Parts: sequence; C-alpha cells; structure tokens
Amino acid sequence: MSGVTAGAAIATFPGTATAQTAPTNPRFFGRMFNLPPFAPATQQVQEALRELGRPGGIMDAKDPLNEGPVRLITNPELSPNNVDNPFHTAGTTFFGQFVDHDFTFDLNSRLAVPTPPETSPNTRFPTLSLDSVYGGGPNANPEFYDPADRVKFRVESGGLFEDLPRRSDRVAIIADPRNDENLIIAGLHAAFLLFHNRVVDLVRSQGAPADQVFNRAKQIVTWHYQWIIVHEFLPQIIGHGLTQDILRHGRQFYRPAPGQFFMPVEFQGAVYRFGHSMIRPSYRANLAGDPGGNPATGAPAFFGFIFDPAGQGQADPVDLRGRARARRRFIGWQTFFNFGDGQVRANKRIDTMISTPLFNLPLQAIPSNDPPTSLPQRNLLRHLTWSLPSGQAIAEAMRIPILTREIFPELRPLGNNLDASTPLWYYILKEAKYLGDGITLAGVGARICGEVFFGLLQLDPTSYLSVQPTWTPTLPRRNANTFTMVDLLTYARVDPASRRQ
Ligand code: HEM
Repeated sequence: MSGVTAGAAIATFPGTATAQTAPTNPRFFGRMFNLPPFAPATQQVQEALRELGRPGGIMDAKDPLNEGPVRLITNPELSPNNVDNPFHTAGTTFFGQFVDHDFTFDLNSRLAVPTPPETSPNTRFPTLSLDSVYGGGPNANPEFYDPADRVKFRVESGGLFEDLPRRSDRVAIIADPRNDENLIIAGLHAAFLLFHNRVVDLVRSQGAPADQVFNRAKQIVTWHYQWIIVHEFLPQIIGHGLTQDILRHGRQFYRPAPGQFFMPVEFQGAVYRFGHSMIRPSYRANLAGDPGGNPATGAPAFFGFIFDPAGQGQADPVDLRGRARARRRFIGWQTFFNFGDGQVRANKRIDTMISTPLFNLPLQAIPSNDPPTSLPQRNLLRHLTWSLPSGQAIAEAMRIPILTREIFPELRPLGNNLDASTPLWYYILKEAKYLGDGITLAGVGARICGEVFFGLLQLDPTSYLSVQPTWTPTLPRRNANTFTMVDLLTYARVDPASRRQ
C-alpha cells in the first residue's frame, strides 16, 4: 500500500521498551509505551501545535455556521467535511463521551507543561464501573440519591420530561460535572439514573433483602453497561474483527499486573479523543419539544448547534450546552439510536476534520475553565504535557504498517518534522480516515483502544468479564442474543414509545 511501510525493528529506539515499565496504580495515570516524545516541548513546537489546532486552520471542518443548525443537518452538501458514517448512529458519540467520563478525569496537569503521568492523579477510578453515576454510593454521597428511597437516584423534571437534579443556579447534582456538559450527555446520564431506579424495582420484586438491593441493582446496571461496551460499542469503533481477536488471543501491549492497572496517557491524551472527530456541528435534540423549531417545516423539533456563542447567558440557550433547564431541553432518543422508526441519524465519520463549533467552546464546557477554547489545540498541547510518542514510533514498536510522511503533506509547512513524527491524536485520526475509511479506528488507534478497554475490564475484579465471563444479559431485550442501548433506554422508559411522541 502506498504511503505505508511495514514496521521495522524496535531497535530504532535503543534502550527503550515497548510496554510500560514503571509500576503504577489505579489512582494515577501511566504509560503504555516507553518511547521518546514526538517532539521536544519547546515554544516553537507549541506554536506549531496551536497552528494545527486553531480556528480556521488545517483541522477546522469549516462548517458554514451561518446556514443555521437545521440546514446544516438537512442539507448535507452545505458541509462537505461532515460526512455520514453509515455504521454508527449519532448516539455512538455520546455513549463514547459518557464512557470517557466513567474512567478518566485529569484535573491536575497543565497544558504543554511536561508532567510525569505516574505522579499525576486520575480523578476517576479507571474501571468501567460507573463511578461517574454512583459516586461513592448512597452513604458517601447522599446528595445524588432520593431522600425518600435512599437506594434510588434523585431525578427531577425539566417541565415535560426528566432532568438531572439541579441546584438553584442550575448546576447539576451528579457525580461527574462533565455529564452536564451538553444536553445529550445530560440526557444520557438521566437515562442511567432512571435505568438504575427501574432495576431497583425489579430486584425488590424478586425479594432481595433490603440491605442487598442497592448492590444487586448496581451490579445488574453495570454488567449490562459493560455488555454494551463489549458487544455494541467496541465493534463499532474498532471493528468486530479486532474486538474478537483481543478477546480470543489476549492483549499484547497493555499488560499491567492485576493490582497495578492504570489509565494510560496514550489512550487518555490522544487515542480516545478520536471521539471529538465524531461530533456534528448541530443536532436534532428531539422531535416534539420546540413548537416551530424547524422554521422550514414548522415541525416542533428542537435543533441546535452543539455550542453557539449566542447561547451564553441565556436561561434556555439556543444551543445544546448543558447546565440549563427548560421544557424543550430533553432528548428524543430516536435520533440517536435505532428504534426502527426511520428517525435515526448517522454519526460523522472519524477523520482529521473537526466540527467548527469545537474550535470555540464555552468556558463552562472546559473542566479547568480556562482558555484556549479550541478543543483541538487543547488535545494537541496535552501531547506535550504527557511527552507522548509519535504515532509512527508506536506503529513501529507494534510492528504494524506505518503511515509515511507522504500521507501528511499538510503538516510539512508546520516544520518540526511533524509529518514524520506526528502527534498521536492526529496520527490515529489519519489512520481512521486512510485505513478505516472513517468508519472505525485502525492500526495503532484501534489496537490501543481495544486493549485498554479489555484490559480495564479484565483487570477489574468486579466486572462481568472477571467474575463470570460466560454471563449474558438478563433484562428484557429485543434480540434474545444481546442487549443494546435501545434496550437500556427502553427499560429506563425514555424510549419514543414511552414518551408517546
Ligand atoms: C460535545 C462533546 C464533547 C466535548 C464538548 C468534549 C470536550 C472535552 C474537553 C473540553 C476536554 C478537556 C480537554 C483538555 O483540557 O485536555 C475533553 C477531554 C477528553 N475527551 Fe472530550 N468532549 C466531547 C466528547 C468526547 C467524546 C465523544 C470522546 C470519546 C469518545 C471524548 C474523549 C475525551 C477524553 C478521553 C478526554 C480526556 C479526559 C480526561 O482524562 O480528563 N470526548 N473533552
């Protein structure tokens, strides 16, 4: 294949190993690969990265925002860089974001300031056990739970449908503030709260002793969620073949000792941020919340840009930012997952084009609340924070095909050898486009992503893969052989049929 060379011997980097060397622990970040940084953390490299991730720059999809949120969706030809992925639905993005918030949260490192991961705390526990929803449980965090029934979550109403519990200043009372960053992830968090509450009813109806109800419900919720990750989400983002390959043949590169598993910065700072490339500039949040929401048809659908500066300071913002409550601010899930009613919409393909609104985030969407407000710039500067290796170096260490510099002509003008020693995030996005046709991650990105997910599931002694690998879902489902997000939302009663609209 032109532009791709087979991985050469690892000896190119004398004295380095390909797998993590320093023992670490789950409370801190760590490294998967002991390889040199892609570039030195100089002012000059910093400027090149800022250029690469700037508004209007190489990565900006340049969506014509002046067309408005409705036309940008209904007239795809207006946004040629916003290409449909026929194998993902729009909800894949927000499920991916929800998962991100379950196992990694860096509140300490500083952009572009080199920092050893092993001494940098991860605010989330790196397991897929929903601490972003449960917090420390009803005793440690009673504020998340219903005072009238302490094993159930508090859920409030936005006027028509469910909303997160909120303080009087509208800040959500939930275990991870990022789950109120936009309306769709807030809706997903609320769906998980309702899902848990319904499972509590089930467990009680089966006669569970009162002191076991919470833990039993939590295990059922968590295992069904983990099942969705293994059987629905991972095949979508890394492909069915690689998912099965890692399950059957094991992990090659992410192999920490059982008590020493950790969140690797190659995944946290670069690979898993591939999800930023799947975000659309605008969405249809629901079909029936906003009278006259679609000016072209008069339909009562609520459309909005994911972020729009015009929404700043508005009580019911025009955009889909979080931290707001109003009747129209709920999610009609038929747009995001396939309920078989013809309403579902596709995700954006995975490539190096990032939707324009993400180059100008509201400060409230940035956990540290500070600039730069360009998400691509933040991602790229984080590579200097963690001294991440280049995509090419990791491909070489993995002995898999390397994308050669001819594939990155747009990076050459930035100097600093970035076309041959490419920041990992940019590299894995290019792999997805070039090798995966934008449908899935490929190469380095797919392998790191799959191994970290399976590693963190297999090394967690409470996951279903550890406790009972032959376990299969027990809750009602459409297809007897599996359990999907559609089933979860249906059980939570936030599906279109339950809303009767
Ligand atoms: C509208 C949707 C999203 C927005 C506005 C958003 C925004 C952000 C912001 C502001 C950060 C912090 C950047 C930094 O300072 O380094 C971040 C981090 C991150 N994002 Fe997103 N993101 C979104 C969706 C996603 C999705 C879909 C994924 C993956 C599928 C993802 C994966 C990550 C990861 C892994 C981090 C690092 C988390 C940490 O450990 O702190 N994000 N995102």
